[in-house]
Amino acid sequence: MKHPNGEVLLLSGPNLDLLGEREPEIYGSETLADHVTTAQKAASRFGLGLQHVQSNHEGDLIEAIHEARAGAVALVVNAGALTHTSWALHDALSAFDGPIIELHLSNPAAREPFRHVSTIAPVASGVVAGFGDLGYELALIAVARCLSLEEA
Ligand code: DQA
Repeated sequence: MKHPNGEVLLLSGPNLDLLGEREPEIYGSETLADHVTTAQKAASRFGLGLQHVQSNHEGDLIEAIHEARAGAVALVVNAGALTHTSWALHDALSAFDGPIIELHLSNPAAREPFRHVSTIAPVASGVVAGFGDLGYELALIAVARCLSLEEA
């Protein structure tokens, strides 16, 4: 089997489709496709596949989480600014049975006060923030650890 340990869903929220062009001094010069490749490579080290959904619409992200209830073993979520506002995402994530890693390129705790609130953190297994592209690898290592998977 190609991904014997199942599929991880990586969710990317609003404006992350602009990575590479958007505020590179904060978010780096890599594109979202670069980060997805990093995450996919890390997932494969643990026998995991990785599907990616990006949307600028809250409802699309919620529906992707609903579908993941049947199809994914873990979630990695960079919800962009919805992190700081969306209790609907919080509730959808609460209905997911598996590890949830909250991920950010920047470190929201070191930025403007409105970024200090996370609606995701209370339902996450843990948070990876501030490490740019490396965070996408660290998040998958965290998923593997939560699932007790060894590197192949
Ligand atoms: C972000 C941090 C959020 O505060 C911001 O709204 C984003 C990106 C990050 O990856 O650092 O869109 O989630």
